[in-house]
Amino acid sequence: MTDDTVLPDDPTANDLPAQAGEVAEAPQRRIRSFVLRAGRMGTGQQRALEELGPRYLVPYAAEPLDPPSLFGRDAPLIVEIGFGMGHATAQIAAARADTDFLGIEVHTPGVGALLKRIGEDGLSNLRIIQHDAVEVLEHMIAPDSLAGVHVFFPDPWHKKKHNKRRLIQPAFVALLASRLKPGGILHCATDWQPYAEQMLEVLGGEPRLRNTAPGYAPRPDYRPLTKFESRGIRLGHGVWDLVFERQTIA
Ligand SMILES: C[S@@+](CC[C@H](N)C(=O)[O-])C[C@H]1O[C@@H](n2cnc3c(N)ncnc32)[C@H](O)[C@@H]1O
Repeated sequence: MTDDTVLPDDPTANDLPAQAGEVAEAPQRRIRSFVLRAGRMGTGQQRALEELGPRYLVPYAAEPLDPPSLFGRDAPLIVEIGFGMGHATAQIAAARADTDFLGIEVHTPGVGALLKRIGEDGLSNLRIIQHDAVEVLEHMIAPDSLAGVHVFFPDPWHKKKHNKRRLIQPAFVALLASRLKPGGILHCATDWQPYAEQMLEVLGGEPRLRNTAPGYAPRPDYRPLTKFESRGIRLGHGVWDLVFERQTIA
């Protein structure tokens, strides 16, 4: 999580009514994992939205994407859910030019910030969808298609009564597992121990996933250490990575 990340545990944001949006397959009452708030847009972010949005923003539509036509090539595709200001997203996309990346985020200043980085760094292998990731995964991503899914520092929803808003729950993880191709990787990271424990339990309970480590995984080299994280580590706070692989089940 970065310094400038929006935190839904802001007390003014906590008591909003739950709305549509969480699970994939079963028709049931849905709960959103985010609260939309107006954020201040910098002029550079605003300009990036206007100038680069038409090229790099993919409009949400309830129909499957065709990644090769989007990127102009057939390459492995990794989806990042909730990229915040996009610092890790941009660094990873720059370092892995042979892979395509689709970042999903609802927060407009973050979308503007990542578009700005795309322009500055010339990242031709990155596109953005500004929409609820649950609906994007459900409707726009084909089954057995992804090389990877990144969920870095998802909102922890610390209070017990808000734990139901956490993204990493069995139904959503089942949806993610169904979108990965066999051998594809689901990589989650969190700095909130109770959420790390929930992740380990939920990911471990999904039959299509296999843990690549005995428990928590060492941080893979491709995930950059954020400023926030380095400071946390200096203060003795923990960060937990979970790296699970999609396996073929009968
Ligand atoms: C705590 S922030 C972490 C941001 C970033 N990954 C980082 O490490 O700095 C979580 C982000 O996830 C986004 N988010 C939460 N639920 C989402 C959803 N269902 N679809 C898209 N974005 C979501 C929020 O807007 C927020 O920016």
